[in-house]
Amino acid sequence: MFHPDFRGLSSEVIKMYQRTTWLKGLLMLSMAMAPALAGPAPTSSATTSTSSSSPSSTASNSTKRIVQYYGSPLEAKNHVHIAQLVNGTRPIYVTNVLFGTFTILDNNTMKITTGEDSVWKPDDPALDWAWSEMCQVQQAGVAVSMFLRSGFHLLNNETTFDARYAPLHGLLTRRKFDGIDLDIEDDAITLNTMVKLIRRLRADFGADFVITLAPVATALAGGKNLSQFSYTALEKQVGDDIAWYNAQFYGTGDLTIDAFDAVVSNGWDPARFTIGMASSPDFQTGMFPLSDLHAVFANITAKHPRVRGMAGFDYYDQCPGGWAAPWQWPIWAAAQLGIAPANATQSFQHSIKSCGANRV
Ligand SMILES: *[C@@H]1O[C@H](CO)[C@@H](O)[C@H](O)[C@H]1NC(C)=O
Ligand SMILES: *[C@@H]1O[C@H](CO)[C@@H](O)[C@H](O)[C@H]1NC(C)=O
Ligand SMILES: *[C@@H]1O[C@H](CO)[C@@H](O)[C@H](O)[C@H]1NC(C)=O
Ligand SMILES: *[C@@H]1O[C@H](CO)[C@@H](O)[C@H](O)[C@H]1NC(C)=O
Ligand SMILES: *[C@@H]1O[C@H](CO)[C@@H](O)[C@H](O)[C@H]1NC(C)=O
Ligand SMILES: *[C@@H]1O[C@H](CO)[C@@H](O)[C@H](O)[C@H]1NC(C)=O
Ligand SMILES: *[C@@H]1O[C@H](CO)[C@@H](O)[C@H](O)[C@H]1NC(C)=O
Repeated sequence: MFHPDFRGLSSEVIKMYQRTTWLKGLLMLSMAMAPALAGPAPTSSATTSTSSSSPSSTASNSTKRIVQYYGSPLEAKNHVHIAQLVNGTRPIYVTNVLFGTFTILDNNTMKITTGEDSVWKPDDPALDWAWSEMCQVQQAGVAVSMFLRSGFHLLNNETTFDARYAPLHGLLTRRKFDGIDLDIEDDAITLNTMVKLIRRLRADFGADFVITLAPVATALAGGKNLSQFSYTALEKQVGDDIAWYNAQFYGTGDLTIDAFDAVVSNGWDPARFTIGMASSPDFQTGMFPLSDLHAVFANITAKHPRVRGMAGFDYYDQCPGGWAAPWQWPIWAAAQLGIAPANATQSFQHSIKSCGANRV
């Protein structure tokens, strides 16, 4: 529900989405009238490329992860450019891009929902530009995972498992994905099928393949869940094959120190999960303006320095930066966790302050 696949949405969420889509129009208009809103372009820094070498991810040697969901390559029929994240004129703090939104279908094919109601066959030539940007992101040293969001329950039937897994395996191979994010929401995949899927992915794609999951944080805390299996039980069985969890601190709960503590109290090591936040104002639940969050992150990192990182959903209009400069969020996120120096966000202080200012 909170990483929408734009098919099974509740009317409440659709209403919110429509309202915010209208707001987006306003925001785009205000940006067109005031291009300085997103701040001046940052100047080149020592960590970025020259013409003789490709840019590479600054944080890639750390165990910390700055994870960027890219679930809507198209919004309002416009291309949303993920390659901006690896523009060699600025340091790269993002470590993982989750590219989607993919669904397993019951006729042994897959589809990609690229935003709003745009649905494509993954290999449609109209999406070549997005696949090409994905390669640019990988060339910069950033791992790209498939963001798989729907159709998991179709794997429950043992008789048809192989036939339904085959197109997934084919796409992961053909497009050279570095990993997969399994985002189970309101989907009846069983614990046994989850274990089988994760073991199969590990066996087929090797030790370096990055398998992550995206539970709502309340499920890790033993509260409201969107899956029919227990993540604690899954971790016990195949935890060694799961790189980390992108815990959603939105939708079913808020992004607060208490919500974080509740996950830890339920037995989870902070190193096992990133703080997933609704970086797009379309999905946030009461935590903007963004500047208010700084105290929460300071609190979390002081108390739980092992926290794995941060994850942002979703790229297209996230702030800081908004439509014009969504590349600002990973730099801002890295600064919250102390991975980037505090002055890394200096060139876009204005967009941090204005982030959420247009909310009603
Ligand atoms: C990251 O690790 C690799 C391999 O260990 C090393 O070659 C590279 O210099 C490291 N990069 C940074 C920025 O520390
Ligand atoms: C990189 O960023 C600069 C400055 O914002 C911009 O002029 C340039 O077009 C960008 N390049 C790409 C490939 O997006
Ligand atoms: C599979 O199902 C989808 C969605 O119902 C449909 O659009 C697509 O054409 C089907 N593909 C095949 C090969 O039957
Ligand atoms: C599993 O799939 C087979 C083959 O399509 C079908 O005959 C069977 O009824 C399915 N089992 C369940 C429990 O749905
Ligand atoms: C998920 O929540 C429902 C109640 O909404 C509960 O009945 C179920 O046991 C929970 N499942 C797990 C695995 O925690
Ligand atoms: C920081 O954490 C402490 C202890 O958990 C809490 O009392 C305080 O309200 C928190 N502050 C913020 C801004 O979250
Ligand atoms: C941030 O501060 C460091 C050290 O004080 C300096 O070398 C660097 O150029 C500054 N970066 C920006 C973006 O201002």
